[in-house]
Amino acid sequence: MDKLDVKSRPELFDFHGVCMTHFYTDNWENMQSFHTRPDDILIATYPKAGTTWVTYILELLNFGQTEAQTTIPIYKRVPILEAAFPILQQGLGPSPPMYKGTDHLDNLAISPRIIKTHVPVQFLPKSFWEQKSKIVYVARNAKDTVVSYFHLERMTTLHPEPGDWSNYLQRFIEGKMVFGSWFDHVNGWWEKKQTYSNIHYMFYEDLIEDTGREIDKLCCFLGLSPSAEEKEIIIGKVSFDVMKNDNMVNRSTVKKFDFTKSSFMRKGKVGDWKNHFTVTQDEKFDENYKQKMKNSTLQFRTEV
Ligand code: A3P
Repeated sequence: MDKLDVKSRPELFDFHGVCMTHFYTDNWENMQSFHTRPDDILIATYPKAGTTWVTYILELLNFGQTEAQTTIPIYKRVPILEAAFPILQQGLGPSPPMYKGTDHLDNLAISPRIIKTHVPVQFLPKSFWEQKSKIVYVARNAKDTVVSYFHLERMTTLHPEPGDWSNYLQRFIEGKMVFGSWFDHVNGWWEKKQTYSNIHYMFYEDLIEDTGREIDKLCCFLGLSPSAEEKEIIIGKVSFDVMKNDNMVNRSTVKKFDFTKSSFMRKGKVGDWKNHFTVTQDEKFDENYKQKMKNSTLQFRTEV
């Protein structure tokens, strides 16, 4: 991420019915044939659901506090499975070498590996299902997700140009975002959970409401039992303010992020959408939301 050879913003295109950019499809065959290890833990999310937050919690629960957490950025400790980024190379060459999430993971000598993905459920390599891998899915309400996504895309050329807010909101409703429709994503993984018992489905809003309670649920799912003292340390380390000031999680090391436009650890709140949606946008969004979620049993909170 610190040496990416990205000169212009990528285009969105239809990939098996989902909007994607080539950064997440160029290594598709290798990704599909990826071999999981029995103890791998997958963190799956639609972008901006609190992936980094839960990833850090998972690391602290599994490994405690480590030297790596103070020297290696979290996106290098927990690679993104589908990533396929060109890397800057010294000298002249026709095509730049590529950073591949799968290669990085194959070379990770850590156990368990924590693996990050944003792909919709139908894109997950079959090895995860065959190995009955433990999967943690984090979902966040649509309104705060779209606001957070908008600010992220303003700050990075790794994503398409967001354009203005009102067009962006319309695109989000239509699912024309990197990794596709939020509606399909949260529902797809939710449906999978009904038949595959190794998915722990969590909500960003619940984490905000009571981080300790959600950590307890995660521990139950993962079969971990930290002491009360260890749990207190984790809660402290993953608080928004501490993470915001931690250079190994706040993305300050990513050269392709323009921090004059936004921060990665931006607000960390439920309900910031109220500062972005006009009354008309909100009404229109609610109407579309009701329609798109009419067959879903998923319930989100837009305030806590
Ligand atoms: P905002 O942009 O609304 O502030 P992801 O890691 O999936 O990209 O999600 C990023 C979002 O999670 C950002 O939301 C970020 O601030 C929020 N976040 C990250 N760590 C958090 C924490 N410890 N507490 C609350 N929110 C957190």
